[in-house]
Amino acid sequence: MDTVKTFLKYMIAQTLSGSQKIEISDIVDQAERAAQMVNQIRSRMLAPNAEKSPPVFSLTQLANLCGIDKGQVSYRIGKGDLPTGQLNEKGSRREFSLSEARTWVRHYRASHLRPEGGRAVTLAIGNFKGGVSKTTTSMVLAQGMSLRGHRVLVIDADPQGSLTTLFGIMPDAEVTEQQTIAPLVYGETSSIRPSIQSTYWDGIDLVAASSTLFSAEFVLPSRQMKDPEFQFWDVLNLGLEDVRDEYDVIIIDTPPALSYVTINAFMAADGLIVPLPPNALDFASSAQFWSLFSDLASNLVESAGVVKSFDFIHVLLARVDSADVASDVVRSWITATYAEKVLPVEIPKTAVTSSSSAEFATVYDISRYDGSMKTYSRARDAYDRVNDLVEVSIKNCWARHLTEEV
Ligand SMILES: Nc1ncnc2c1ncn2[C@@H]1O[C@H](COP(=O)(O)OP(=O)(O)OP(=O)(O)O)[C@@H](O)[C@H]1O
Ligand SMILES: [Mg+2]
Repeated sequence: MDTVKTFLKYMIAQTLSGSQKIEISDIVDQAERAAQMVNQIRSRMLAPNAEKSPPVFSLTQLANLCGIDKGQVSYRIGKGDLPTGQLNEKGSRREFSLSEARTWVRHYRASHLRPEGGRAVTLAIGNFKGGVSKTTTSMVLAQGMSLRGHRVLVIDADPQGSLTTLFGIMPDAEVTEQQTIAPLVYGETSSIRPSIQSTYWDGIDLVAASSTLFSAEFVLPSRQMKDPEFQFWDVLNLGLEDVRDEYDVIIIDTPPALSYVTINAFMAADGLIVPLPPNALDFASSAQFWSLFSDLASNLVESAGVVKSFDFIHVLLARVDSADVASDVVRSWITATYAEKVLPVEIPKTAVTSSSSAEFATVYDISRYDGSMKTYSRARDAYDRVNDLVEVSIKNCWARHLTEEV
């Protein structure tokens, strides 16, 4: 019945609007209404403070993060040399804040942390295809690494600012140009440092994005035209140099295009992570991704003598729909093509991610899931496994960098 009503309403509106044209001023009004709506949704979701809150951790969750059993946590609380958390109102449950939990993790995972003299490992998350879960992957990697005790800098290099939104920050309303990579792009600064802000998540700092970053696509080539010595592909890499000693992992989310900014992200990266859903169109588009990227990289090598190598490239099977029979076939194409580059884990297409992302959140933001525990654990376990595998690559990278320096 509702469908019939909606259809009739639509037909009447169409008839009344007749041959009226849609003017630019209508689009301006519409843009304002859309921005207001996003703001309203955000305020509702992030109430009462219009800020995201980090999760809290139970004793069991803390023990899991530290890789010890609950008894050891209780014993250690008695010793009093690590944060003791807070008892809940009933006094029945002890809860630890994210920052407390990270102090514990850094203590118990000391052997997994960046070695003395090591530098941040930079990861770029890329694929020119839109909607393959680049941003979600960037955020869960950042959260996963910080929950393993690492200090993370996240760079949103996509003018859409979706990653910035996942931090509870509205790209166009709340991000100044100075808080993005724009000053680097314009050549106003040579360090990313002034653009860094802390976030709601202890252990993750952010360089935000907003639509102002679209200008990078004109500014970078124009600087190159004016100054033949200028290296348009190296701006972000050079800008990060100043802070590589202070972070353990730097994660760059890229836009769905081979843009000047994307090239900068890839050139700054030690490792590349390419999320790829196993469906035919995404697979075909990934073939274009490699071909465009290799053309460009070869060009840079030939024309500018650029030397570039990656420590690792991981293809991540993402948004895998177990109900889709075709995905088995495409998965076999992917493994035949990308072989050992394909990570031995798949991220399922899950209601946990899609419903929580409507609230500007990921699976790691949820302290207690309201839906089925089985659904939540499936998603969480898959992301944990990806983080475990990526952490191994990061640790290998630290080890290699140190031996190279000797
Ligand atoms: N595992 C998953 N299961 C279900 N939905 C998912 C999953 N991963 C991501 N999504 C949803 O898919 C949509 C696209 O994800 P995301 O924004 O991370 O992709 P993207 O590659 O960054 O997109 P863009 O190219 O626009 O930057 C989002 O609505 C996100 O919540
Ligand atoms: Mg994105």
